[in-house]
Amino acid sequence: MSAVRIGPYTLRNNLILAPMAGVTDQPFRTLCQRLGAGMVVSEMVSSDMSLWDSRKSRLRRIHEGDPEPRSVQIAGGDAQMMAAAARANVEAGAQIIDINMGCPAKKVCNKAAGSALLRDEALVSEILEAVIGAVQVPVTLKIRTGWDRANKNGLNVAKIAEQAGIQALAVHGRTRADLYTGEAEYDTIAAIKQAVSIPVFANGDITSPEKARAVLDATGVDGLLIGRAAQGRPWIFREIEHYLRTGQHLPTPGLDEVERILLEHLAALHAFYGDVMGVRIARKHVGWYLATRPGGKEFRSRFNALDETHAQCANVREFFRECRQSLETKDEQGVAA
Ligand SMILES: Cc1cc2nc3c(=O)[nH]c(=O)nc-3n(C[C@H](O)[C@H](O)[C@H](O)COP(=O)(O)O)c2cc1C
Repeated sequence: MSAVRIGPYTLRNNLILAPMAGVTDQPFRTLCQRLGAGMVVSEMVSSDMSLWDSRKSRLRRIHEGDPEPRSVQIAGGDAQMMAAAARANVEAGAQIIDINMGCPAKKVCNKAAGSALLRDEALVSEILEAVIGAVQVPVTLKIRTGWDRANKNGLNVAKIAEQAGIQALAVHGRTRADLYTGEAEYDTIAAIKQAVSIPVFANGDITSPEKARAVLDATGVDGLLIGRAAQGRPWIFREIEHYLRTGQHLPTPGLDEVERILLEHLAALHAFYGDVMGVRIARKHVGWYLATRPGGKEFRSRFNALDETHAQCANVREFFRECRQSLETKDEQGVAA
């Protein structure tokens, strides 16, 4: 796979953290990039700038020290509002503007937005042209394969996007009507890749190095967007990168490293959101990290009752201490037997 270029930016590898509202905040983006993602995309920001003053919106916007290239995703259904939002984000430091036409949420800022736009190709065109005309930085687009299974117009939208000057296209292998059900399909993505000459990224259900290889082979795309599989497993990027490059698996990170990463993540969340909000947001991340570990579920319900930052860190340390102890006990029993 050759390196992907988006405007002046050459990505370090072709694995991108998919935008996820409520998940891909600055602490998580920074961690994923450190652990191997070639690019990370912000949580979507509404194009309705009257909403931008809330604390939540301020935290979602671009920040000093964000991983580069700083790609900011905007969502909305009005071309002029989208253009203005793109401009304001570039003034605030965005280096790439990503347009959300992939999110199935019914309404963003009281208008059809996200993947709902796919139904109206004229409006798609109008929005893309307005945004591209408003900024000097590269504009990318994220779509689904179509409106519903009877109207898989992803291919048309891809051609419209290329024509308008979109510089890279990410395609989630589900229609809007599928929401998150069923399995992502990659045939439509392969057809889109064949039909356009801008970089195309495949997205949906890429959960392992083998699946990444299979999707790349099946579609011929230029890169992959990985979303949910990175939750609680930000090292998935280096695992996939290594496997694609060498055909070999990296060893899974040991308890010590997972503990270190999780504590670093907790500290970053506490610092970024402040104690009260940081403690709340940390709960879901800790749940994801520990979901598959023995005792993880029970730990989670105790952890969710904690409301102090230092108690969260101390309890995570204790959890890992117990994990190590139970491993040692098992080893001793193995030796004795
Ligand atoms: C919690 C959550 C939030 C999401 N938020 C966004 C978003 O803000 N913008 C967007 O384009 N897609 C959003 N998505 C969709 C993901 O970017 C991605 O397309 C989808 O999860 C499929 O990829 P995956 O199977 O690798 O998770 C979100 C998905 C999840 C699970």
